[in-house]
Amino acid sequence: MATETLLVEQRGAVTLVTLNRPQALNALNSQVLADLLTVFAAYDADPTQRCAVLTGSEKAFAAGADIKEMAPQGVGDMFGSNFFAGYDLFTRTRKPVIAAVSGYALGGGCELAMMCDFIIAGDSAKFGQPEIKLGVTPGMGGSQRLARAVGKAKAMEMCLTGRMMDAAEAESAGLVAKVVPAADLLAEALKTAETIAAMPPLAALAVKEQVNVAFETTLQQGILFERRLFHGLFGTEDQKEGMVAFVEKRPGKWVGR
Ligand code: CAA
Repeated sequence: MATETLLVEQRGAVTLVTLNRPQALNALNSQVLADLLTVFAAYDADPTQRCAVLTGSEKAFAAGADIKEMAPQGVGDMFGSNFFAGYDLFTRTRKPVIAAVSGYALGGGCELAMMCDFIIAGDSAKFGQPEIKLGVTPGMGGSQRLARAVGKAKAMEMCLTGRMMDAAEAESAGLVAKVVPAADLLAEALKTAETIAAMPPLAALAVKEQVNVAFETTLQQGILFERRLFHGLFGTEDQKEGMVAFVEKRPGKWVGR
């Protein structure tokens, strides 16, 4: 399956989505957003699919929002269309999404990667929020998500200077979960996705909600939310199976209810 700007492939229970605007280094225009929303809504709705990988090309995950599309816009156009607000819908994808980043992840590209649940980077990856050089600022959540990921000092420095961070620095700063040789990136991301896809799916949904709530609420509220989801999973067949399978020393068989 393909849309105008994305390649989509189902590999068993893993959906692989590849940004496909090579002539523009995968710059994120309105069509990419529309296609992402269509593809990830279909992924969420498909009971055979358990984990997704979002990737780009070897040269660029995405070199930012499409500057050529934005350049002529006025404030009325941006405010009136609530430009970029659609990405909030992308972040509401309920199932796990891994970003596999090779090459440039700049501006909106870095922001899109950070909207995924975690990032696996090839050693060629370069992250940055260079919007200041265009007379603007991050606009797809970069100032907020980068600050949460790497802390105030590095986020402020990155956004004020527009400099790029390489994969090793991104890993030590906590922006990416792990760095692998660029040639192995897709294989490693798919392997991780297969591991997640083999987990009990309701528990995977619950983990995603729990960790995301950590960034939205107080510690006490977050712990209560976690505990209630934990309690709720004791109403599922997968919890019964998972604990019996452990005792019987065999792998669990998951039904997703
Ligand atoms: N938007 C539109 N087109 C882009 C683009 C972008 N963000 N980034 C690259 N392209 C286009 C180039 O214009 C060029 O097209 P043409 O062949 O038609 O001229 C093509 O992709 C290849 O790019 P380059 O020739 O520039 O490739 P390079 O290897 O010399 O440089 C690069 C690579 C350093 C990534 C450079 O392309 C670059 O700096 N890109 C812009 C990065 C940027 O500023 N991103 C932030 C955008 S604003 C934003 O994202 C706002 C937000 O918060 C959401």
